[in-house]
Amino acid sequence: MKFKRTIIITGGAGFIGSHVVRLFVNKYPDYKIINLDKLTYAGNLANLSDIENKPNYQFVKMDICNFQEIYELIKTQHADGIIHLAAESHVDRSIKDPFTFAQTNVMGTLSMLQAAKLYWESLPEKYEGKLFYHISTDEVYGALEMTHPNGVTPPFTTKASSQSKHMAYGTAFFTETGKYQPHSPYSASKASSDHFVRSFHDTYGMPVIVTNCSNNYGPYQFPEKLIPLFINNIVHRKPLPVYGKGENVRDWLYVVDHARAIDLIFHKGVIAETYNIGGFNEWKNIDLIKVLINTVDSILGRRPGEDMDLITYVTDRAGHDMRYAIDSTKLQRELGWEPSLQFEEGIEETVKWYLDNQAWMDNVTSGDYQNYYKEMYETK
Ligand code: NAD
Ligand code: DAU
Repeated sequence: MKFKRTIIITGGAGFIGSHVVRLFVNKYPDYKIINLDKLTYAGNLANLSDIENKPNYQFVKMDICNFQEIYELIKTQHADGIIHLAAESHVDRSIKDPFTFAQTNVMGTLSMLQAAKLYWESLPEKYEGKLFYHISTDEVYGALEMTHPNGVTPPFTTKASSQSKHMAYGTAFFTETGKYQPHSPYSASKASSDHFVRSFHDTYGMPVIVTNCSNNYGPYQFPEKLIPLFINNIVHRKPLPVYGKGENVRDWLYVVDHARAIDLIFHKGVIAETYNIGGFNEWKNIDLIKVLINTVDSILGRRPGEDMDLITYVTDRAGHDMRYAIDSTKLQRELGWEPSLQFEEGIEETVKWYLDNQAWMDNVTSGDYQNYYKEMYETK
């Protein structure tokens, strides 16, 4: 079959990547979607079992750092679009092992860029109809302060968005023109990769887009991240390791809404632009954790709040960023994107998904996965 486009999605076996691959494979049967993934501990093909036999889907096990293999793949597949998600993504791991983050996130991104450049520049039409779309994070902007405007105690409602329920913990937000001030080895590596992507536009004229998104939640997230880790611990009545005082604020977005934004921006975004993606949905960790406990308890038929005593305050994460808050007005105004789910609905769906998919959870927390998981997390 002749496909209209061939798109390589890197990191497609991971959390966000699997939602992006699923959306593109189902929505665009006339596109060939190649999922390029090394299958690190975070990559799991079970995340895509529902679409693995679709005729427009192909999985390729490959390391983004292997420039020669990447180049051959892009060339032989005549790829005209790249959506680059492959990365090391967990801040705690970056604190223990920064080298791997520099290698994958910086050198891997550079190898993807250089391979695409060499192939696209060899074509008669060169960069026409091509796009290198880089998925990045709000963490590159650093951390925001918690503020009390006119003495009001946060959270307070703001007029910063069209979302009627927008609650904020400060008056400043991350915008696309904000200064890069990464603090963790993870965010420093992502910041560096963003700069490389933009440099390929400015130096070689490569059509690129960068998006910076807030914290995602939803099905298929590896249980090292706050929400799936805590859901699983509540189910099994294990301690919930809250870093510091649990006062840090994160801005949460349902992963399917991130995938919808990526689809929209891939097709309608303006070359060389940056778009921030976020749900205007700030939560203090401890408040979010209480919502999780109540939700899990009530779905399991326990007394809501019965498991509050699992909350265990532990040593804070080194360099723990206080507050993230994305201003996604540009994306909403220019491309008409809106989050589809209110947070309460998204959290309930997410908790139900993890409870209904205990086999998926058991698989990633057992066997080969278990040793790594134990080593990283048993001490919490
Ligand atoms: P994840 O850790 O769940 O998945 C990462 C995927 O990349 C895995 O499938 C892994 O096997 C693959 N991978 C890692 N190293 C690779 C390599 N060298 N070669 C090929 N594949 C490799 O990550 P995620 O949470 O889905 O994040 C995906 C992207 O989105 C990352 O770039 C991350 O920085 C960014 N992001 C994540 C969030 C979030 O809240 N999770 C928010 C904003 C941006
Ligand atoms: O903001 C986007 C970023 O969100 C992404 O770029 C990262 O890839 C993603 O991992 C996420 O980073 P965070 O560090 O914010 O996510 P994490 O789930 O690790 O932690 C969320 C908050 O919860 C953070 O303030 C730390 C806290 N936390 C986390 C864990 C795992 C705890 O208190 N205890 C925990 O055990």
